[in-house]
Amino acid sequence: MDNTRIRTSDEATEHARASTLLSPRFYTTDFAAMDRLDIGPVRAEWDALLAEYEGDNNHDHFQRTAEFNDEVARLEPTWSAELRQEFLDFLVSSLTSEFSGCVLYNEIQKNVTNPDIKQLMRFMARDESRHAGFLNQSLKDFGLGVDLGGLKRTKSYTFFKPKFIFYATYLSEKIGYARYITIFRQFEKHPELRFHPIFRWFERWCNDEFRHGESFALILRANPALLAGANILWIRFFQLAVYATMYVRDHQRPQLNAAMGFDVTDYDFEVFRITRDISTQVFPQTLDIEHPAFRAGLDRLLRAAEGIERAKARGGVAGALSKAGWALVGACTFVRLYILPTRRQPLPAQVRMAPAW
Ligand SMILES: [Fe+2]
Ligand SMILES: [Fe+2]
Repeated sequence: MDNTRIRTSDEATEHARASTLLSPRFYTTDFAAMDRLDIGPVRAEWDALLAEYEGDNNHDHFQRTAEFNDEVARLEPTWSAELRQEFLDFLVSSLTSEFSGCVLYNEIQKNVTNPDIKQLMRFMARDESRHAGFLNQSLKDFGLGVDLGGLKRTKSYTFFKPKFIFYATYLSEKIGYARYITIFRQFEKHPELRFHPIFRWFERWCNDEFRHGESFALILRANPALLAGANILWIRFFQLAVYATMYVRDHQRPQLNAAMGFDVTDYDFEVFRITRDISTQVFPQTLDIEHPAFRAGLDRLLRAAEGIERAKARGGVAGALSKAGWALVGACTFVRLYILPTRRQPLPAQVRMAPAW
């Protein structure tokens, strides 16, 4: 359904640069406001977390082994053209989100003076730069390396106030963990399906993402006003936006999910369930993902997104009208999902969790 073909390095870079409703974005923020953050209320947990970053237990992980290179050289050309495109799209969008984190954390690190935030951001930028570089190596195997310097200079940036950065990055780090660990566990059960060596790297990789999420959990819990009052409405909004985006995007890659042995909807709901369970460490309200209207709403959003794609392909006045109609269906569906009842829970005294999935 995503009909942008990736055939050259320039097309891969263009794909990463494109700004659509569904594609990963680059962010910038208010650095002075970041400077005013106080993590004092969670000092003990914070210091333990920063010591973990300092210990850097993944420093030797993101290197290609001879075995990895052998596997790449032997990759069977039995992939269908669709699977190849969907896998490339997966690599490019994963690279874009990893690099988006790298750029944001690095910018914050350079522009703040708050020593706690500065130190944290430096560690996270270090990790994300490794992740992005490792993905880009796999794209280079296909002759499709993305020009990361050019991407940093030319992709457009979205400004978010710090609290929105925290809601969005907290969720994207935790959902990133949930996605990678679910894929890794699937290939543990079905090694015969593992069609690329990069998936073997996901277990230690996702522990970095889990830790990044823990950092934002601590920042949020140290500033309880960000988790109360009208901010609850934003928290609900970001959960829904992140889940809905993932649902639509994943359903655009049917061949990739089939190759992994996943039913896309089941995979997505497993990822939602993990993310929801983790996010009770910080969000006093979480979405009721088991509600039948939640599932039905996501399917309607998907049909609206597909309708928009078809209308765009048709073009002309009829296409424009049809596109507007489907956009309205999408917007109304989003609102109906937003006002569904949520689950409420008290926040735990201890913030940190172990990556136990
Ligand atoms: Fe990452
Ligand atoms: Fe991360």
